[in-house]
Amino acid sequence: MKDFMRSNKELKNIIRETAEIAGYLWQRGWAERNASNISVNIADIFQEEISDYSAFPFHTLPLSYPKLSGKYFLVTGTGKRMRDLARKPMKNSLILQLNGDASGYWIISQNIGDAENFLPTSELPTHLGIHQMIAERGSNEKVVMHTHAHELVTLTHAKEFCDQENLNKVLWSMHPETVIFVPKGVGFVPYLLPGSNEIAAETLKALQNHDVALWEKHGVFAIGRSVAETFDVIDILAKSANIFFMCRSANILPDSFSEAQLAELRKLAENF
Ligand code: 13P
Ligand code: ZN
Repeated sequence: MKDFMRSNKELKNIIRETAEIAGYLWQRGWAERNASNISVNIADIFQEEISDYSAFPFHTLPLSYPKLSGKYFLVTGTGKRMRDLARKPMKNSLILQLNGDASGYWIISQNIGDAENFLPTSELPTHLGIHQMIAERGSNEKVVMHTHAHELVTLTHAKEFCDQENLNKVLWSMHPETVIFVPKGVGFVPYLLPGSNEIAAETLKALQNHDVALWEKHGVFAIGRSVAETFDVIDILAKSANIFFMCRSANILPDSFSEAQLAELRKLAENF
């Protein structure tokens, strides 16, 4: 780890929490091979006076993100395994800083020519697009997390759950926590090429008025104030999907909540 990171206690805590949650993603079976990626906006806790940027690798972005000008992010590396990141977070993630017009970024945790250099996640367009959306609306989420939560992915293999209304109805009706902690539900994103600007644009639309975006036959994108909180939202949704599948495999037709019970839970959710 570079010296300027070593002395930052808050950053060290975020790196530690990211490593812990990466381990959970692996344990849950959501992070096969290099699946999953995480980015954290660390601009509030990390302001480094860098006088000479020439030592750091610079990469141009296909789109620019003006609201993120000069901002710093902790981002997982492309091709890196969450189970490795859990043990050695800074060997598997990096810190990048966007340039003045946010059309490119320096990887300030690496030096040009280092043998161990690597790039940020291939889903960077979606991550940066979401961070830009958060900045535009002025909300306080710092974390974007993508993972292959197979319980939720499984639902998208059924045409009936590629319908957003049906999807949310079934998820909300399985468990009270889902209504309380995922009140805006899931936005459905029809299949598109991973890593593309197109899927990034559709994900942004889904997250305009939902807590989580679910990519058909692929995985989820969630946002939150901390890495742990972001994981929790996906965990709760996966619990709902699991209960649904357990009912189905036990040949139980889920009883679900009544409209009155759902309304009561939604009211409760307003206080969280
Ligand atoms: P990266 O290794 O590039 O982060 O890709 C993992 C992934 O889940 C792609 O959707
Ligand atoms: Zn993925």
